[in-house]
Amino acid sequence: MWRVGILTASDKGSRGEREDKSAQVIRDMVADIGGEVVDYRIIPDDLDVLKETLITMVDRGKLDLVLTTGGTGFSPRDNTPEATRAVIEREVPGIPEAMRYESLKKTPRAMLSRAVAGIRHQTLIINLPGSAKAVRECLEVILPALSHGLEILTGRSGECGAD
Ligand code: MTE
Repeated sequence: MWRVGILTASDKGSRGEREDKSAQVIRDMVADIGGEVVDYRIIPDDLDVLKETLITMVDRGKLDLVLTTGGTGFSPRDNTPEATRAVIEREVPGIPEAMRYESLKKTPRAMLSRAVAGIRHQTLIINLPGSAKAVRECLEVILPALSHGLEILTGRSGECGAD
């Protein structure tokens, strides 16, 4: 069982003006790899709030995985990648590379997401785009590799095995 946190970055969502369909997609899809959502927050796109919230979730929540959704685009209020970079210790470029590579086969707009991923302590943080459709498409790409990565990160496995 993986302890998962969801952080939705959305000015409108945080004011209750938009239903958070993306968080529900994350909830449903992580269950397939044994992920249980134990922390869920929806906050405005302020850089400092995002940073503080990520730090609190990781350092107090003993989470294995934090999935953010939203705020990865070009708007001046899209601050999620910057907040993530500020709190991670090690970047994991292959995860957003894979999301963009596979997503580009579906839409050229996939290149517009500036999503990053990285490790803080023993927690993997991954940015996902904001729309429920994009979240589904990106999770389909990365979920098959995530359990193995989390096993290594959390010390539950030290072996990479044959595949
Ligand atoms: N990735 C996938 N797989 N599918 C999508 O529909 N939408 C793109 C991109 N990534 C999309 C996607 C669009 S339109 C934008 S603007 C960026 O993600 C940034 O989205 P965000 O600002 O909601 O994070």
